Amino acid sequence: FFFTDMFRRVVRQSKFRHVFGQAVKNDQCYDDIRVSRVTWDSTFCAVNPKFVAIIIEASGGGAFLVLPLHKSGRIDKSYPTVCGHTGPVLDIDWCPHNDNVIASSSEDCSVMVWQIPENGLTLPLTDPVVILEGHSKRVGIVTWHPTVRNVLLSAGCDNTIIIWNVGSGESLITLDDLHSDMIYSVCWNRNGSLICTASKDKKVRVIDPRKQEVIAEKERAHEGARPMRAIFLADGNIFTTGFSRMSERQIALWNPKNMEECIALHELDTSNGVLLPFYDPDTNVVYLCGKGDSSIRYFEITDEAPYVHFLNTFSSKEPQRGMGYMPKRGLDVNKCEIARFYKLHERKCEPIIMTVPRKSELFQDDLYPDTAGPEAALEAEEWIEGKNADPILISLKHGYVPAKSRDLKLVKKNVLDKKPDLKKRNENASSHNKLADMVSYLQKTENKLDDILKEIKSIRDILSSQDKRISKLEEQMAKVTI
Ligand SMILES: *[C@@H]1O[C@H](CO)[C@@H](O)[C@H](O)[C@H]1NC(C)=O
Ligand SMILES: *[C@@H]1O[C@H](CO)[C@@H](O)[C@H](O)[C@H]1NC(C)=O
Repeated sequence: FFFTDMFRRVVRQSKFRHVFGQAVKNDQCYDDIRVSRVTWDSTFCAVNPKFVAIIIEASGGGAFLVLPLHKSGRIDKSYPTVCGHTGPVLDIDWCPHNDNVIASSSEDCSVMVWQIPENGLTLPLTDPVVILEGHSKRVGIVTWHPTVRNVLLSAGCDNTIIIWNVGSGESLITLDDLHSDMIYSVCWNRNGSLICTASKDKKVRVIDPRKQEVIAEKERAHEGARPMRAIFLADGNIFTTGFSRMSERQIALWNPKNMEECIALHELDTSNGVLLPFYDPDTNVVYLCGKGDSSIRYFEITDEAPYVHFLNTFSSKEPQRGMGYMPKRGLDVNKCEIARFYKLHERKCEPIIMTVPRKSELFQDDLYPDTAGPEAALEAEEWIEGKNADPILISLKHGYVPAKSRDLKLVKKNVLDKKPDLKKRNENASSHNKLADMVSYLQKTENKLDDILKEIKSIRDILSSQDKRISKLEEQMAKVTI
């Protein structure tokens, strides 16, 4: 292959050069699963040390499966699903601080957060613990804050990013004027102070969410029209995948302090599946899984030229429809396992195990530096006030045993107690949003009373049902004017 030749020139010592990938035996696969066919380039699969979750086909709504990891074999058609969405589910993400909590986003414009019972589902789960409404179009991306408890980000096809406090069910930050086109990917940095995004306008942006500002950006990070991805690495640099103008798949490395020139740019091949990057911050290895490819390619990133070092390719016959990636603490350190993937076929999910061959039976501490554990480092209130913290690390020396189920900490009583009729929710979401926007506007701009008055008028027309609240606001304003 052309790309291996290119990388072969720079062969260097690496303990990951001989990483060995292997699919598990048939009886350890999850079989008879109708993997979703929805047109959306997310992973369709999310994994943690307790469960594997897979977005599936569902008639008249949206659903995903949640299976305890040991529940391999044939999955019965009647196996209960998580099925509260009224449109197809587009993305799912396990909470990094609670292995029984998962967030989902959907074409029905909502984000839902679910509490999974300790031993998995015995009945269909239709009621989420929290519904987050605020997007006006389908929501394609959900991703939890890496170090702060109960903070969840969603990005929708309304080109808006909302950061939620799941504990109170409220939005903390709405970024609705930073993107003018579809958002393809969003990634938090290591301590969650920043996010980076890739979008259809071919820009990669680095955003300070609390300042609601783009602090760096690169136009045409990749020149091709097909989807890009951008992820933060542990050192703060950004790794991207995309397409050249000639439709070759590319990978690139960027320093946010100087986005003009990339640090490295490589062309891989001419396939057309979007390259999903999975990253291990402990070893600085990036695994690339192309949607529709049948291989996983991996690269080590260092601070010496050429910075992005091709390591190897795991190849198989069948194309992948999606891919789950186990967090480090879920790996088997006794087998020197350094990554585990959950490859989605059309009708099954097949774990793929990557190991570093070692003769010794002892714990290999060079392969397993301390890794992100399940404890949150900060509370949402601390983060919104401006604090940052790195992940709280744990040692894997004696293996990792998942904790028993803890309930999601909610500030309010279950917001579902007043759960509205599902079909009408969308209408209400947008009016609630308008009102919420107005309230914050009012608080920020005391000197623009005229405009506000006009807005109140127009909003009152739209929202007769919100009359009470508006008159309250008017009273407040009357005081300001006096
Ligand atoms: C968080 O990360 C940012 C960006 O890498 C860095 O500037 C900042 O110092 C970090 N803060 C803490 C508390 O680690
Ligand atoms: C929509 O909002 C109005 C006013 O807040 C409320 O009275 C009504 O019950 C809501 N409808 C639904 C279906 O939740």
